[in-house]
Formats: sequence, structure tokens, C-alpha cells
Amino acid sequence: MKKFFVIGNPIDHSLSPKLQNHWLKENNINALYDKIKLEELEVKDFIRDIKEQKIAGCNVTVPFKKTVIPFLDKLSPEAEQTQSVNTITFNNGDLVGHNTDIAGFDTAIKKLNFSLKGKRVLILGAGGVVPSIIFALKNMHVQEITISNRTKEKAENLKVLFSNLKILEWGNLTDFHMLINATSLGLKNEKINLNFSNLGHNKLFYDIIYNPRETQFLKMGKQLGHKTENGKTMFVYQAMEAFKLWHKIEPKVNRDTFKLLDND
Ligand code: ATR
Repeated sequence: MKKFFVIGNPIDHSLSPKLQNHWLKENNINALYDKIKLEELEVKDFIRDIKEQKIAGCNVTVPFKKTVIPFLDKLSPEAEQTQSVNTITFNNGDLVGHNTDIAGFDTAIKKLNFSLKGKRVLILGAGGVVPSIIFALKNMHVQEITISNRTKEKAENLKVLFSNLKILEWGNLTDFHMLINATSLGLKNEKINLNFSNLGHNKLFYDIIYNPRETQFLKMGKQLGHKTENGKTMFVYQAMEAFKLWHKIEPKVNRDTFKLLDND
């Protein structure tokens, strides 16, 4: 039986196995998907197992999205440009790194009917998923992307990949149409210590976090009357794109799919 994995550290929280196994069953595919916690030094051997087809393919999550790149034969253009891989396939003898986070984010925004063309976006955080978000936002022709990260150097480093970024000191806010929380603040119900009042109206507060469903950041946005959205749709669609790459079948995404990820 074919085996697929998601690798990361930590990995306990991952809902990918629940979703992928649901789709495998629904499509009568004889395969299993599991999660595995790796140490950095174990990544190389794990990927060799895909090359030897002991493992059929994998997803990659924090903190290995960049770590895996030297061990792969090819990168998709999106993975190349973001230097971020979240899905690995084996095609005609080659290990190929893909980035489906971009498509996941893109679909999530399209479903919101919130046009970002010509708009200003402020991203809080500069971690693993941020290059993918920037890539997707650029394709939507936003006017301006500003990054604010506690460790300023990490925000500055993103300019190597994307030249037109603006960098803002952590603790400050600028005028925006969309505010994205891409920090890990909120996973454990933490507040973000910024003053979000006096921002005007009808902004979009978007959190990459989907568990908990409503972070303090989103609660605050809602209280202030802004539109809010968590990262669940992005999560589901990045998983759908990975499933399509491995199995050449588009799995169903409906209310049951989203329900599957509740109460965790
Ligand atoms: P990684 O940084 O390993 O890619 P991540 O979960 O993708 O991990 O990113 C965590 C993000 O949350 C980072 O932007 C981090 O800021 P630093 O780069 O300064 O570490 C941010 N973050 C985590 N805890 C934070 C806190 N207490 N205050 C502000 N930002 C925080």
C-alpha cells in the first residue's frame, strides 16, 4: 500500500492526515497518509526514501519548507520563487518540490469576494508561510505589501525574494485594506499587543491560524466591525492541490470537508 506523510516539528497539531485519509477513502484509493515528527538531521534520509519509492510522497510543514530543497531534483516555478516547498512528488525518477500554499491562499481570497487589486496589505510575521502569501498577493496585483516582524532582520531577508516590500517596525501600524496575522500568536489564545482601533472601516482581518477557529486577533477585528476570515479555507485548498498532484484526481470540497476539521 502506498504511504504518504506530512513532515514537520512539531507535528501533533496537523489535521492533514484527517483530511487526506478522508479523500483517499472517498476516492477508493489504496493508500495511507500519516504524520511524522522529524529532527532536521533526519530530513535527508526521509526524502531518500521517497526517491527509492518506499514512501510515495509527502507534505512539508514548519520548519522544513526550505530545508528540503537541496535534496530535491526539481522545483516548480512557485516553489523556486518562494524558496518554499510544502508538497513533494516523484515523477519519472525525479523528486519534485511544489508549493500549494500559494494556490490555497489564492482560492481562499477568491471565495471571500474581497478584491485586492490596487489595495494595501499589511502582514504581521515573517515565518515559513509568508513568501507564499506574498507571491499570491503579487499575482492579485495588490498595490503595496508591508511586512512587520518582531525580528526585523527576518522581514528584511524577504526582500531578497521580493524586492518591492515595505518593512515596518514591530509595534507600529500603517494604513491598509487587509491585515494578515502570519505570526504564531493566537495558537494558544495569545493577544497581539497592537492597537487596532482607529483603523477606519471595512478592512479584512485574515488569520492564517484555523485552530482555534477564532483567534483573539479575529475576535478583535470582528468587534471593531471588520470582515474576518481564518486560515481553514487556505488549509483545505492547499491540501486539495497536493492531493491532485499525487493522485491526479480532484477531491470533493464541501461542508463535510470543513466539518471534518472542527472540534479538534
Ligand atoms: P518560523 O519563524 O520558524 O518560520 P513560523 O511559525 O512560521 O516559524 O513563524 C512564527 C512567526 O511568529 C514569526 O514571524 C515570529 O517572529 P520572529 O521572527 O521574531 O520569531 C512570530 N512570533 C512568534 N512569537 C511572537 C511573539 N511573542 N511576538 C511577536 N511575534 C512572534
